[in-house]
Amino acid sequence: MTLAAKSSGAPDLPGFFRLVALDSIDSTNDEARRRLAAGTAGDGTLIWAAEQTAGRGRRGRRWSSPRGNLYLSLVLQPGCGAAQAAQLGFCAAVALAESLAAALPGEGRVRLKWPNDVLVDGAKISGILLEAVSSGGCGALVLGVGVNIDRRPDGTLYPTISLREAGVAMTPAALLQRFATGFLAWYETWRDRGFAPVRAAWLDRAVGLGLPVEVRLDGETLRGRFAALDESGALALDLPEAGRRLVAAGDVFFPQPHAAT
Ligand code: BTN
Repeated sequence: MTLAAKSSGAPDLPGFFRLVALDSIDSTNDEARRRLAAGTAGDGTLIWAAEQTAGRGRRGRRWSSPRGNLYLSLVLQPGCGAAQAAQLGFCAAVALAESLAAALPGEGRVRLKWPNDVLVDGAKISGILLEAVSSGGCGALVLGVGVNIDRRPDGTLYPTISLREAGVAMTPAALLQRFATGFLAWYETWRDRGFAPVRAAWLDRAVGLGLPVEVRLDGETLRGRFAALDESGALALDLPEAGRRLVAAGDVFFPQPHAAT
């Protein structure tokens, strides 16, 4: 593990962030957790790596992490409960969607898939892994973000795309700078005004709202209608014979094309 040189195009981040730039690491989320445990990370610490050798995805999956893409983990200590903390994943997804939409030619190409996936042209371009950590009695969150800039994995649960394939050449440093700046604005909005504005911005780009959806949970698959995003960020699913069920974590698939939303 070596520190990336400032001359390698290190981003210019707002003062809130304390950037730790690494060349290679197992997982930026794991590095953030180690630093939290050691007392060397706090609110605003941002771990950024050029590659990960053991990148982690949601629900125990692997996250392919070759050079050329963006891998970051941000430590946050918002001083709120676990239920509200989950809303920060939506802040990150909205900020990332806006960063990508501003860079991509054309309109309406960037959409959001519950809970925190960003899609471009209907394919997954990024993933967000939000983990709660309790360090010395004071709760912290690690918000991990991975974006396919130059490379994308094959054989995944959901079709993938890279920013390069979508028609944009951008360095990880440049995207980090755009994302971090946008995220901070949404983080401040969330702290000042709560989840409502974040939720509205997320819903503006949501795929599948009102449509049939399949939600895969551990050991169970639910089929119903994606009725709403509730005030906590849970997916409200209307089941044909069992009424409404709130789902806090799962993988979502749409039997119909997203364009129909
Ligand atoms: C998902 O499964 O969609 C979430 C993927 C999250 C990947 C990012 S890459 C940076 C951070 N470090 C990790 O090990 N995972 C997250």
